[in-house]
Parts: sequence; structure tokens; C-alpha cells
Amino acid sequence: LGINIQYAQQAAPRGLAEALIIGEKFIGQDKVCLILGDNIFYGHDIQAIFKDVLQTPGATVLAYSVKDPERYGVVSFDAQGKVTSIEEKPRNPKSRWAITGLYFFDNQAVSMAKNVSPSKRGELEITDVVKAYFKKGQLNVMSLGRGYAWLDTGTYEALIDAAMFIKTIEDRQGLKIGCIEEVAFLKGYITRKGLLGLVDGFKTSYGD
Ligand code: G1P
Repeated sequence: LGINIQYAQQAAPRGLAEALIIGEKFIGQDKVCLILGDNIFYGHDIQAIFKDVLQTPGATVLAYSVKDPERYGVVSFDAQGKVTSIEEKPRNPKSRWAITGLYFFDNQAVSMAKNVSPSKRGELEITDVVKAYFKKGQLNVMSLGRGYAWLDTGTYEALIDAAMFIKTIEDRQGLKIGCIEEVAFLKGYITRKGLLGLVDGFKTSYGD
């Protein structure tokens, strides 16, 4: 695919913030982006949003309005749109704005993660890292409007919902969504020959 991927394993489910500690060496002095493997983002020109975010100092999280915010990290705003609170899975959410599983941090995130103590569910909560940025006045929250889809595939039901959503659009357009081989080709990471070589391995409709 013309990219370099390194893997590190989390030995036990001790929370998302631990990724920043496990990945400390990999991060080095850089900024870092953390994405949860069960999150799907879909929408026109969404890459442009991510590019903008990369220029923003501090931390940036994306907020998305959902009907069941109590399942997520929740951010609330005052009338001027200023962030007033950040809470992990609040029983009584102060807003419908869930914090999605895509986080952009500057290099402070590593030391902040090290300062987080385990929550009631025994995890190092990424929300506590986000809160640390909020307390320092260095948190940006960008809202993803209703024209975007943010899907979370962390339950069997949600996985099926996401699969149906993607299938509907793929079938209608005759195009693939999130096809990494296509992306690598269009971005020039691999040649046409390289792409065809990859496709050869797929004797399925995906290969077609
Ligand atoms: C995690 C985070 C939560 C965030 C969610 C997004 O939840 O703790 O703040 O809103 O991912 O998918 P978890 O998957 O650990 O329940």
C-alpha cells in the first residue's frame, strides 16, 4: 500500500488513554492522532476538515449529535458555543453532542495520559486526557453537522447498521467506501501496476 504500519499490542483492556503511553516512542516529539478501530466517519470532503484540524494547536475532538449520548463522552456548550463540560458516559447528559473516537493531540497528550488514574470501570479514560486540555483552555471542539455520518460499530447491532449503510451507498454509486487500495493508488502511494497486483489477490466482488 506504500505506507508503513507498525503495531503495538495492549496486553489488557486498560483503556484508550493507554494507547498514548504504549505509543510513546512511536509518537516521539510529534503531534498525534488517535482513532478507534470501531469508528466510521463518512461525508463529502471530510478530509478537508481533518487537514484543517492538523493546523490547530492543542487538542481537537469532533462532536456529533446523537440520540443516545449517555453511551459516549459528552461535550456541552453555552449559548455562545463555548465548551462548558466534558463527561464520560454521564447518566444525565447535558447535551446530545457525543465526542467521536477520533482525537487530534499535540505532544502534551503523552504526559497527560500518564497522569490519568483509572476510572470506575478500571480504565484510563481518553476523556480524562480531553478534560486536561479543556482545563488548560487548549481544547477545540469541531462539530460534525447532520450531513455527515458517524457510526460506531462496537455492538453487533451497530455493526449491521453500519454495514447496511455502507452497502446502500456502495451499491447505488458503484464505488467503494474506504477502499484502502484505491486510496493508496489515488494518492500516488502505489502505481497502477501495484494496484492491479493487489487486486489479483481478491477473488471476490471486492476485487471486481
Ligand atoms: C469510547 C470513549 C468515549 C467515546 C467513544 C467513541 O467509549 O470512552 O468517550 O465517545 O469511545 O466511540 P468506549 O468505546 O470505551 O465505550
